[in-house]
Amino acid sequence: MGIEDLARPEIVAMKPYSSARKEAPGQGILLNANEAPRPLLSQPGRLNRYPEPQPAELVARLASLYDVRPDQILVTRGSDEGIDLLVRVFCRAGQDAIMQCPPTFGMYRIAARTQGADTVSVLRSAGQEFKLDQESVLEAFAGDSRIKLVFLTSPNNPTGDSIGRDFLRRLLELSRNRAIVVLDEAYIEFCASPSASDLIAEYENLVVLRTMSKAWAAAGLRCGSVLAQSSVIALLQRVIAPYPLPSPVLSLALRMLDETMLEQQQLLMQEIRENKGVLIHLLDNRKFIRQVIPGDANFVLVAVDDAAGLLSYCARKGVILRGFPADPLLQNYLRISVGSKPELEKLASVFDAWENGR
Ligand SMILES: Cc1ncc(COP(=O)(O)O)c(C=O)c1O
Repeated sequence: MGIEDLARPEIVAMKPYSSARKEAPGQGILLNANEAPRPLLSQPGRLNRYPEPQPAELVARLASLYDVRPDQILVTRGSDEGIDLLVRVFCRAGQDAIMQCPPTFGMYRIAARTQGADTVSVLRSAGQEFKLDQESVLEAFAGDSRIKLVFLTSPNNPTGDSIGRDFLRRLLELSRNRAIVVLDEAYIEFCASPSASDLIAEYENLVVLRTMSKAWAAAGLRCGSVLAQSSVIALLQRVIAPYPLPSPVLSLALRMLDETMLEQQQLLMQEIRENKGVLIHLLDNRKFIRQVIPGDANFVLVAVDDAAGLLSYCARKGVILRGFPADPLLQNYLRISVGSKPELEKLASVFDAWENGR
């Protein structure tokens, strides 16, 4: 059984759209794409022309950064688009399901619902600091043949815990020929353990998601990567928009991935690690804080006495934290991102005021 047998049959059978830029990659007198002959704005990347569908130079740099081959990567508009493509390719409306482990990133469920696929949830328990219940994940997966995609997040948002390789391997073995395991590594750069992308060579049913939104300080760029064997990438290529990456994004992404940036990126990582220590310290010994879950990413999750009250008090003082009013598992919790030192000082003074009766 190959990966194509897991995909929606109509996607496999479909003849994909072939864009003008794909058929003739942009040299010579271009009269094939109904573009304007000259740009009005002079700007790197020839704005009057459609961009390369998957820009070879960017793909090569990202492949080297993420340690995969260029044919094992699809560049997307953030990981959000990767999630959406996966659900659209593998889940049949009204028949298939995704699996997720809440509390977790909300877009898995939204993508499934948009596609008309069901969501099977294996809940994490507050009593266990929201750690993944591995045995329940394996059991739930084994017991539901509708599951086509298992979304795991490492480190998880908003609980910050990471997935061990042993468990990942067990799940990959169990799901071989049956489902895809999607490992969302949006925050992996903040955590001590390495990416699981080296397992891609071994498992056709492993997909790893990476992004420039977090550790590369470029959420505004909308540049994500789906890493998988080329058979999986080819399926996603069938449904991705013809020109996902705007040419200004391409030029900026190439600048970001310049060798000289690596050093700056490392310095930023160091600063965030230090500031995370500052954040955790400022949460110590506060009467209204019941629990701090530090996790492995660039945020912490805290349980507080009056989450809604504190959230709106902080907002009135100009500090915006993340609450989860719609999530029954996280009613008393707030997520705090690691900001700059002055931002954290401000947070500390707002917390002082809240603690001392305003
Ligand atoms: C776990 C996780 N995955 C994916 C994303 C989306 O990333 P991107 O900005 O690349 O779309 C986020 C954003 O917060 C996230 O927390």
